[in-house]
Amino acid sequence: MDRLIIFDTTLRDGEQSPGASMTREEKLRIAKQLERLRVDVIEAGFAASSNGDFDAVRAIAGTIKDSTVCSLARANDKDISRAAAALEGAAHKRIHTFIATSPLHMEKKLRMTPDQVFEQAKLAVRFARRFTDDVEFSPEDGYRSDPDFLCRVLEAVIKEGATTINIPDTVGYAVPELYGRFLLDLRERIPNSDKAVWSVHCHNDLGMAVANSLAGVKIGGARQVECTINGLGERAGNCSLEEVVMAVKTRRDFFGLEVGIDTTQIVPASKLVSGITGFVVQPNKAVVGANAFAHASGIHQDGVLKARDTYEIMRAEDVGWSANKIVLGKLSGRNAFKQRVQELAIPIESETELNAAFAKFKELADRKAEIYDEDIQSLFSDEAVTPHNEHFRLVSLAQRSETGEKPHARIVFQIGAEEVTSESDGNGPVDASLRAIERRVKSGAELLLYSVNAITSGTESQGEVTVRLGRAGRIVNGVGADPDIIAASAKAYLSALNKLYTTAERLNPQTSLAP
Ligand code: KIV
Ligand code: ZN
Repeated sequence: MDRLIIFDTTLRDGEQSPGASMTREEKLRIAKQLERLRVDVIEAGFAASSNGDFDAVRAIAGTIKDSTVCSLARANDKDISRAAAALEGAAHKRIHTFIATSPLHMEKKLRMTPDQVFEQAKLAVRFARRFTDDVEFSPEDGYRSDPDFLCRVLEAVIKEGATTINIPDTVGYAVPELYGRFLLDLRERIPNSDKAVWSVHCHNDLGMAVANSLAGVKIGGARQVECTINGLGERAGNCSLEEVVMAVKTRRDFFGLEVGIDTTQIVPASKLVSGITGFVVQPNKAVVGANAFAHASGIHQDGVLKARDTYEIMRAEDVGWSANKIVLGKLSGRNAFKQRVQELAIPIESETELNAAFAKFKELADRKAEIYDEDIQSLFSDEAVTPHNEHFRLVSLAQRSETGEKPHARIVFQIGAEEVTSESDGNGPVDASLRAIERRVKSGAELLLYSVNAITSGTESQGEVTVRLGRAGRIVNGVGADPDIIAASAKAYLSALNKLYTTAERLNPQTSLAP
């Protein structure tokens, strides 16, 4: 059977969404989960974009054994050498080089002639082949490029040794049938097209990234899909991995393709990415949304109870949903906790991390009688278990609110080694708490988003709060979980401040001017 290669770019294209930037440790945790998910290729980053990204790609390359690790590089020797250096320790490595080929991008962004782009593309692939025989080439804004010019460039880069040809719909302009035919036309016209694997890379600006990718596979004959967990990505995001994989698996009768993904790792991957980036998954999101398998109407419930497949085309457990099980409680010991953490396939970096999580578990179990799998997962997405990131940390919070009275909050928190106390009034208890923090920190950041979600069902559920802050063009997200949503809000705000005060600046490949 034909095989479809799953190329995950959560750590590169996904990370380009404002506020989604991740630390090296966070990227490493996600990469390990992607390996458990058995993705074929992990695009770990854009090594030349910053020292931080270089380190992250290098750490992932040195850790991941089963998946191919890839770095993006613009079509120049400097970027490609940097990618090659970061990938040196990889068991399987790929260099992904790109240059824009649409008239608009060549003229306005690159200020290069088509002939110059043609030469540069060839030289880049030739140079990349010095470091690995797995080289991918992308003509950026490929879908809006002139097909004749594209045929000329792609034939030449395949001759130079490109083994994967990726056709990006960079701005999400395509519609399924046209995109599929565009790919087919290229493959039919390029004499050496059979020497490369063809790949699709679709953005979701018109909500068609998944449909376009599947059309590229079905009509265009692509055998690689580039996608991200939860569809994370700039603007409206990228093609979502979970949707493409489950479409191909569920409609195997139509697509006739194999994918190597362990689908039971999809929901854990979704939760990990959402917890780390602070990009909450909408409840009605296909496959990974909280309501994706919830049957509310009586007719549907009745049908599902009688025969599951009356209203279900996939099984929740096949994509990694666990049934909100009460797993542990106040009396559970460290061994029981460790065992459940292992069953949930949560990676534990060290005994220190396990101990920190166990201490937090005990604290939580004192306040919440029933601890669910989701609660345990939230302990590990909480920054409190990775203390090296924490410059700001909540110690305690007291707040008073009463009908007709102005709410007031008093917060004690750590700034580095110093413990500080701050107080404020506010419009509500959340407002008062965040103002109290801001009164002391004076970050001057603008609050761009505040949202609360229940981690499990019922009023005794923990609240998970996401806070998005913006300052001087930089956007960061923070997440905090606690049975008390005011405390969760303060944790989320402090977590966002922790990110705001780290200084990793990165280049964005799509907006950078130089080729
Ligand atoms: O969307 C795009 O064009 C890209 C390329 C760099 C592959 O992400
Ligand atoms: Zn992209």
